[in-house]
Amino acid sequence: MTGAPDPSVPNPPNERQLFGEIGEDLGLVTGAQVAQALQVQSQRRAAAGGRAQDRLGEILVERGELALRAIPKILLEQQRRRQGHSLAGVFRLRQIGSYEIIAVLGSGGMGLVYKARDTVHDRIVALKVLALRLTADEEFVMRFEREVRAASALSHPNIVGGFGAGNDGGRPYLAMEYVAGRTLGEWLEADGRLPERRALEVARDVAQALGYAHERGIVHRDVKPDNVLIAADGAVKLTDFGLAKLIREDRRVTQSGIAIGTTDYIAPEQVEASRYIDHRADLYSLGAVLFQMVTGQVPFDGPNNNEVMLKHLNEKVRDPRRLAPDISARTAAVILRLMAKRAADRYDTAGELVQDINAALRALPPESHPAAAHGRDAPATAAGGRGPGCAAALLLLVLFALYLVNCAL
Ligand SMILES: Nc1ncnc2c1ncn2[C@@H]1O[C@H](COP(=O)(O)OP(=O)(O)OP(=O)(O)O)[C@@H](O)[C@H]1O
Ligand SMILES: [Mg+2]
Repeated sequence: MTGAPDPSVPNPPNERQLFGEIGEDLGLVTGAQVAQALQVQSQRRAAAGGRAQDRLGEILVERGELALRAIPKILLEQQRRRQGHSLAGVFRLRQIGSYEIIAVLGSGGMGLVYKARDTVHDRIVALKVLALRLTADEEFVMRFEREVRAASALSHPNIVGGFGAGNDGGRPYLAMEYVAGRTLGEWLEADGRLPERRALEVARDVAQALGYAHERGIVHRDVKPDNVLIAADGAVKLTDFGLAKLIREDRRVTQSGIAIGTTDYIAPEQVEASRYIDHRADLYSLGAVLFQMVTGQVPFDGPNNNEVMLKHLNEKVRDPRRLAPDISARTAAVILRLMAKRAADRYDTAGELVQDINAALRALPPESHPAAAHGRDAPATAAGGRGPGCAAALLLLVLFALYLVNCAL
């Protein structure tokens, strides 16, 4: 694996570039601030005879341009992106259509999702490329392209924007808005549960996206935390409209048992494979997601997908307050209504749900749960609630430890 470097592989950014780029992506610093800090850094390095001096983050903090508490956030994201860059080096795909592959963002039931540069419009996009095993079936590919086209027509602040579908020598792909941040699934994995206020805000934003799509006759069918992207500035964006049904209905895929995805959020009528699946299936799934956001647990657990599906079909949902006694009765009532077994017992529309969530939000005591994470900046005193001095000391400690393991900035 040695020899001349492959010229078609874009060089991964060095640590300093990555740190600056992420700071900018997360809206924490401006490009001009990063450029100036880099200049200061090289001046100091030159003055010290070429030895590394202060790191970029330190300089930005020193200049009052970056909050100390923002640094761990940048370092965490830096680690993720570094992994994505090294993964991209392992795969052969360098270019698809007019897109240059930069990094691997993740993988799902349909294939890999790449971060890529759209060379025509000079912008960064997320590119979902259909897995080879799915491209052999022409009918499947046609339906994929059709679904992507329908979803690309949706334009809403809470929906990941679609830039259209393409096909490069038999590899169908979908280009979409790149969301720098994390999925709700990743947040839940890391934090277990969300503060009630934030959980309601996320659910309301997803409901707004659904309302908009439902009015245009598009049902999502796979509302789940992995399909909810939370941008660095806290914006909530739903993705993958219409794609789930392709995977679930693909007999080869279903029979082999792979790639069926999670059944943790599936509506009873989807379990029954009823022909009468409508927008209310999405409301049920959103109820299951909200259940998890406030309790830290999925509504039904089981050793395999079949058991979980049977419970969605037959078993009564627990009152979420049995798992999270601190949440409000209103929030619990919203969840239980969303997760009614009969679609007719749920909300009629996502718009009605939005109204109820807003009422639940208004009824919450103002500062009961500061929105301290999940894409939102934490208030300065949030760390432990023991006052600014203590929080700053703790953050300094975290910062120092992270710097020790993240050398070479
Ligand atoms: N628009 C995007 N911007 C940034 N990252 C994205 C975007 N879309 C997807 N990703 C990343 O790619 C990962 C894989 O997405 P993908 O939709 O393929 O998988 P999934 O949602 O886990 O499963 P499924 O195939 O059932 O949708 C996501 O978890 C996310 O980290
Ligand atoms: Mg997805």
